[in-house]
Amino acid sequence: MTVRTEVNGKPVTLQVDPRATLLDTLRDGLELTGTKKGCDRGQCGACTVHVDGRRVLSCLTLAATVGGRAVTTIEGLAQGGRLHPMQQAFIERDGLQCGFCTPGQIMSAVAMVHEGHATTDDEIRERMSGNICRCSCYPYIVDAIRDAQRVMR
Ligand code: FES
Ligand code: FES
Repeated sequence: MTVRTEVNGKPVTLQVDPRATLLDTLRDGLELTGTKKGCDRGQCGACTVHVDGRRVLSCLTLAATVGGRAVTTIEGLAQGGRLHPMQQAFIERDGLQCGFCTPGQIMSAVAMVHEGHATTDDEIRERMSGNICRCSCYPYIVDAIRDAQRVMR
């Protein structure tokens, strides 16, 4: 089927199998491999992207459902050659080790701040609990989000 959507600010027309996930469509169809496939079953958060500004798990989202909507991936976060404040904060706070979970962590964190849910460290931990980090960088991820939300507000 044909799906007309917007990905990282650009109009895109996709030919997709109705059963195709947004994750596979982004990675295999559009070569946007920043979005990671961890579990492929909604348990790790590595595949988090934004649809109309809200965080979604792209492994549980059918590409067929994003017609007419705006999809943003980690590749679309930097603007004008400048990293997003959340990306910068993850670098400065060393919020990663292997980096596999990082695109999902950052996409989730950006949406969480926009939701107004990053006011305390406990709230950050709770609202980020769907994003798993096997390298256990959690304390540094919280530090990064705390820093970034001050810049983003
Ligand atoms: Fe989507 Fe793990 S790959 S939640
Ligand atoms: Fe390795 Fe999070 S940095 S899984």
